Amino acid sequence: MSRNRPKIDWHPASWQAYPAAQQPSYPDHVSLERAIGDLSQLPPIVTSWEIENLKEQIGKAQRGECFVLQGGDCAESFAECTSENIVAKLKILLQMSLVLLYGLKMPVVRVGRMAGQYAKPRSADTETRDGTSLPSFRGDIVNRSPFTEEDRVPDPQLILRGYERAALTLNFVRSLIDGGFADLHHPENWDLDWVGHSALADRYHEIVNSISDSIDFLESIQGRAVHLAQRSDIYAAHEGLHLSYEQAQTRFLDHRQRWYNLTTHFPWIGMRTAELDGAHVEYFRGIANPMGIKIGSGMSAEWLQKLIGVLNPNNEAGRLSLIHRFGATAIEKNLPPLIKAVNETGSPVLWICDPMHGNTESTADGVKTRRFENIATELELAHEVHENMGSHLGGVHLELTGENVTECTGGARGLTDADLARAYKSTVDPRLNYEQAMEVAMRIAGLVKNNGNGKG
Ligand code: PEP
Ligand code: CO
Repeated sequence: MSRNRPKIDWHPASWQAYPAAQQPSYPDHVSLERAIGDLSQLPPIVTSWEIENLKEQIGKAQRGECFVLQGGDCAESFAECTSENIVAKLKILLQMSLVLLYGLKMPVVRVGRMAGQYAKPRSADTETRDGTSLPSFRGDIVNRSPFTEEDRVPDPQLILRGYERAALTLNFVRSLIDGGFADLHHPENWDLDWVGHSALADRYHEIVNSISDSIDFLESIQGRAVHLAQRSDIYAAHEGLHLSYEQAQTRFLDHRQRWYNLTTHFPWIGMRTAELDGAHVEYFRGIANPMGIKIGSGMSAEWLQKLIGVLNPNNEAGRLSLIHRFGATAIEKNLPPLIKAVNETGSPVLWICDPMHGNTESTADGVKTRRFENIATELELAHEVHENMGSHLGGVHLELTGENVTECTGGARGLTDADLARAYKSTVDPRLNYEQAMEVAMRIAGLVKNNGNGKG
């Protein structure tokens, strides 16, 4: 890390003067510029009012007044931008948040890894098969996954296609919510097929009934509807990886006198792009959105303190969320020094645990998976470490899907390595299926202990 950040004023393209990791190499610069120009003219996907609302909610979570549930696919795909998929994702997030609300007894802020989670970091720029090397697949917004030269060339048009799908996704989510889909009076709307035959179904329905009774009771004594609890907003988040995409929708808003990234409410800086003098940190420092930083075992205390200094120089509440992803075996050793380092800065942060990315492993057959118990253990340890350090865990970041996939092993249904072949759909990281995701929510909420058998 060099210390020589050039003294240039920030603007949405100032990142281009810095080393930019994990960017596609577009052969056709004229087309790239045209696509970015086109995108910069299109209306935004989100508004600064929504962004500021989320920042306020995150500020509350920093003070322990609410809990943040962040979840969705590792990577969204264009092909899966369907009504069924979006509804299923919404349902699982709503069901989980209901369980968390009930168990933690505080409001839950829902943030989907959705509507723009299309670009992926890769360990190598090229992939070689049978002696042929082609650019790595970097997500649907960059290139196409089939292993042909034509498919793997980064195509600037895909930036526009990604933007359109992000807008379609969020448009549908907003319509569902505005239409009453997320109304707490009608949680039956959120039932997924599994509910009839899941080991956790009874517990879930007890929770739903109990919440409905409480709402009825409150409404009967107040003589009016309970407004505060009945509407649920969903915010959008994605890794702010593809800087041309982020740049194109970054606007200066006169009424706020600040720059906003209007592709999403909450962009985050991934583990591989948090270099202090890199392009991503340069880009992120200039936008007013609340933002996440992924933190793994390679992050030093000094590095983290400097990131906080650059990204939140005025100690603004709600601005920074630190999403740690150490793995169940490393968290106890690596998290405490970072909590101490952050406390020394005086900056408010929201600590979020991502128990997925430090627990990825391969089976004997080379299938990428994660074991439910490691995920649950990391979450429990995260809670414990924060408590012991006088800090607190205010959120969780999960890769999950509303579908009945078999990508992670374990959980109430006891999936084994042999089950993975049955319904493994992810082309990137393995996700919790709906049952496993609900079990995680119940564990966080303190409602079940092991494998859904115990009741807390
Ligand atoms: C991700 O969230 O999908 C990801 C790549 O995470 P990380 O940057 O923490 O490895
Ligand atoms: Co992932």
